[in-house]
Amino acid sequence: MIRSPLMTVMVDAVMRAAKGLRRDFGEVENLQVSSKGPGDFVSTADHKAEAILHDSLLKSRPDFGFVMEEGGVVEGKDTSHRWHIDPLDGTLNFLHGMPHFSVSLGLERDGQIVAGVVYDPIKDELFIAEKGKGAFLNNRRLRVSGRTDLMECMIGTGIPASNKRDVPVYMKELTHVTARTAGVRRLGSAALDLAYVAAGRLDGFWETGLSSWDVAAGVVLVREAGGFITDTTGGEYSIAGKSLLAANASVHSQLVKTIKDARAA
Ligand code: IPD
Ligand code: CA
Ligand code: CA
Repeated sequence: MIRSPLMTVMVDAVMRAAKGLRRDFGEVENLQVSSKGPGDFVSTADHKAEAILHDSLLKSRPDFGFVMEEGGVVEGKDTSHRWHIDPLDGTLNFLHGMPHFSVSLGLERDGQIVAGVVYDPIKDELFIAEKGKGAFLNNRRLRVSGRTDLMECMIGTGIPASNKRDVPVYMKELTHVTARTAGVRRLGSAALDLAYVAAGRLDGFWETGLSSWDVAAGVVLVREAGGFITDTTGGEYSIAGKSLLAANASVHSQLVKTIKDARAA
């Protein structure tokens, strides 16, 4: 597989940031036993990774804008292009020494996400996709799962923090989806959840309370792997939107209906 110049720039930036995170993750394991815990250290690791991504992308594409989880929005001269960056997706896992987190980088062009990279530094899994060019995991072409019977499906989700949204409504959704599927997983990195939908590991995913940097890369991965992305009501997904539902065509409509029924119950 020959990478485009754009994808080369993206992968290069992500790999640089991931190198530091991998090293810092080793340190976090040592800090678990200290009374203060690794909180400040993790926050520094997060900021360092974002600075590496920012600097490296700025060098390669000086005019593009940025939407960064830590650094906020930075407008570029080129108002068509914006990077959406989550330097560390799965912070809570990282903080607890759980080896499941990622670096997520998406590129928006005129409101559409056109390229995405999600990298898991621990498993050394690199998920990449460009609009119209397919989705890949370490150079292997990806395809969403072919399951059509919801009862056989494993579905990913994100559990909202208690202060973030209507937890009782979410609990109804969880109850309904649990009853109608083979199982639900809360893995802790939305970017990887979407990459796993693209790879057919998860048959679907839903979450409310997300930001563009969590999902920009994953959205293009799922679409390029043949999957569907909408908000959780089945309406068109927007980069400014907060909720997301992803799956293959058949599972997608069943999952939208299940969530709708749950909210009405
Ligand atoms: C979080 C993770 C998590 C999702 C949360 C996100 P962070 O991102 O993606 O899986 O459920 O909604 O905020 O804080 O680890 O970058
Ligand atoms: Ca995130
Ligand atoms: Ca983050």
